Amino acid sequence: MSTAKKEYKRVTTKSLVDMKRNKEKISMLTAYDYTMAKIVDGAGIDVILVGDSASNVMAGHETTLPITLDQMIYHASSVIRAIERALVVVDLPFGTYQSDPKEALRSAIRIMKESGAHAVKVEGGKEVKESIKRILNAGIPVMGHLGLTPQSIYKFGTYTVRAKEEVEADQLREDAIMLEKIGCFGIVLEKIPAKLAEEVAKSVSIPIIGIGAGNGVDGQVLVLHDMIGMTHEFNPRFLRRYMHLYDDMTKAISQYVSDVKNVDFPNANEQY
Ligand code: KIV
Repeated sequence: MSTAKKEYKRVTTKSLVDMKRNKEKISMLTAYDYTMAKIVDGAGIDVILVGDSASNVMAGHETTLPITLDQMIYHASSVIRAIERALVVVDLPFGTYQSDPKEALRSAIRIMKESGAHAVKVEGGKEVKESIKRILNAGIPVMGHLGLTPQSIYKFGTYTVRAKEEVEADQLREDAIMLEKIGCFGIVLEKIPAKLAEEVAKSVSIPIIGIGAGNGVDGQVLVLHDMIGMTHEFNPRFLRRYMHLYDDMTKAISQYVSDVKNVDFPNANEQY
């Protein structure tokens, strides 16, 4: 098998399956606005997730539950205007797909029609199977999300590692196979033991993207604001910070405050 990387001018759901087949790891990051999405896309990311983590990162909520469909569509349309290459996947927010398949389809159609996104992501396994099938039947690509599913945080009670016990691990294995069978193009596995994640990735032919799930999966996703160190209170073991923007920005802004107060800014060259 060739190890040469194929160039993808535009990443599609099919490209991701090709990448898995060719053993090329898939890179995925969140973005919620035009400016960030332009940087992320320009840097060569494969998938941009307009995650409902926008509820935490952009709006300051404690959980992902409060964000609305209209707000997700606003974020997704801003991202879509920026991208040239990446596949854009948008989270269906809490309360827009769980109650019945028809509502799930209506929500997914709104995201696709009003934002121009390429796919949706849905949290959960067998309990949301009918909703996912309904969306897929309408021709909308769906990415699954198993393991730690933050929309169920009040059921779990904590953000600790999921599926450590065999019963939950077995259910997760079953759900992953079911999601592939009904036609999902990929699955996010969040915060589960690396060994289990690797096993699941080997058991299906669709890509498994991990977050806190080790490196035996087909790709990785992180929340952008965490990986660039803009947030600084969230420090899980799986997070690698590539920058420390919280500190750098604090320094820069303090300097600006001081320059304004001391009438150092603007100087003679910075005025008309
Ligand atoms: O909303 C989000 O950012 C996510 C990732 C953590 C996978 O679902």
